[in-house]
Amino acid sequence: MTEVGYLQLRGIGKHFGAFAALKNIDLTIRRGEFVCFLGPSGCGKTTLLRIIAGLESQSSGSVVQDGRDISILPPAARDYGIMFQSYALFPNLSVADNVSYGLVNRKQPRAQVATRVDELLALVGLPGTGAKFPAQMSGGQQQRVALARALATSPGLLLLDEPLSALDAIVRVHLRNEIRSLQRKLGVTTIMVTHDQEEALSVADRIVVMNHGVIEQVGTPMQVYREPASAFVADFVGKVNRLRAVSEGDHWYRVGNKRLQCLPGADLGCASGGDVAIYLRPEDRVVDGLRDDDPTRCAGTVRHIEFLGGNCLAEVAVDGIPDQSMHLQFSLNQMDEFNVREGATVHFALRTDRLRVFPAAAAA
Ligand SMILES: Nc1ncnc2c1ncn2[C@@H]1O[C@H](COP(=O)(O)OP(=O)(O)O)[C@@H](O)[C@H]1O
Ligand SMILES: [Mg+2]
Repeated sequence: MTEVGYLQLRGIGKHFGAFAALKNIDLTIRRGEFVCFLGPSGCGKTTLLRIIAGLESQSSGSVVQDGRDISILPPAARDYGIMFQSYALFPNLSVADNVSYGLVNRKQPRAQVATRVDELLALVGLPGTGAKFPAQMSGGQQQRVALARALATSPGLLLLDEPLSALDAIVRVHLRNEIRSLQRKLGVTTIMVTHDQEEALSVADRIVVMNHGVIEQVGTPMQVYREPASAFVADFVGKVNRLRAVSEGDHWYRVGNKRLQCLPGADLGCASGGDVAIYLRPEDRVVDGLRDDDPTRCAGTVRHIEFLGGNCLAEVAVDGIPDQSMHLQFSLNQMDEFNVREGATVHFALRTDRLRVFPAAAAA
């Protein structure tokens, strides 16, 4: 059986006056998938979500949900629940009335509504709080109520626009995991907008990386992290070293006085002789079991150490690569074992199988 998309965006464009906020967006989302729209502020994430919800009309293109073209349907005729960043609860309504808002609109019997509200509040971990008012709850609790409200009608599609951005770090991580497990349990197709790459990597089945109104890449968190499709994605997702280099052809690159060869396919569009940017993650270095004859063996001087908890990032001035230092990750145990401290010399090799290379112009 061929996989049929639950939600299809076909050629979506959006203009605000002369400004093109979205350009020809094509995307298929599978039933039950958890997709994150990830990108910097202003790249068009919210606009795209609002078009899916019918809260904004597209300038071109169409939206198909569960086989039905919903492109011109008003929001009330579409099948979704939505949750925003914050302040989205009605302050003058009780928690129960907030949650049941969409249900009462659909004129369900009162007893049935009350049962459903209890069920939803239990689902989001707030049983028995129906009589409270939003102001009596913490930010994280209010967002759980907003989530219960978004799920009240058992929608086919759950839309979340930066739902965690206003919360402090610990609550944010906790709630994102709860949203994820709830989504799995319910199987509801979900789109979450976020500008936080760590959040997207941790919860999404697939990430849609956006920039300036276009999709840069669609992939699993691992694909987006390991095989970024563009310099923008490599820079935006995760910590990465970017080194200026020159292409020598046949996937060989010269960085300072070192020559590195990447895998075929990791350097698309990099013509021989051209200036390129080489990308390598801080963890893509070898220190354990380092061999003397490793052709990518390097020595360098630790300039600075950023302590991150279970590991550190060491800024290293690499011998033979002047004017551009690298950041290498070491676990605390490795810091002890290999004497990684400011001013010390460290030896390592580079995981050239993990290199990504892009033309320098694209990385500017
Ligand atoms: N109603 C509007 N009128 C004019 N410009 C808008 C409107 N809504 C959004 N924009 C512009 O469209 C671009 C994308 O906005 P938005 O979708 O909110 O970005 P994001 O959610 O990724 O931060 C931004 O440059 C924003 O200023
Ligand atoms: Mg937004």
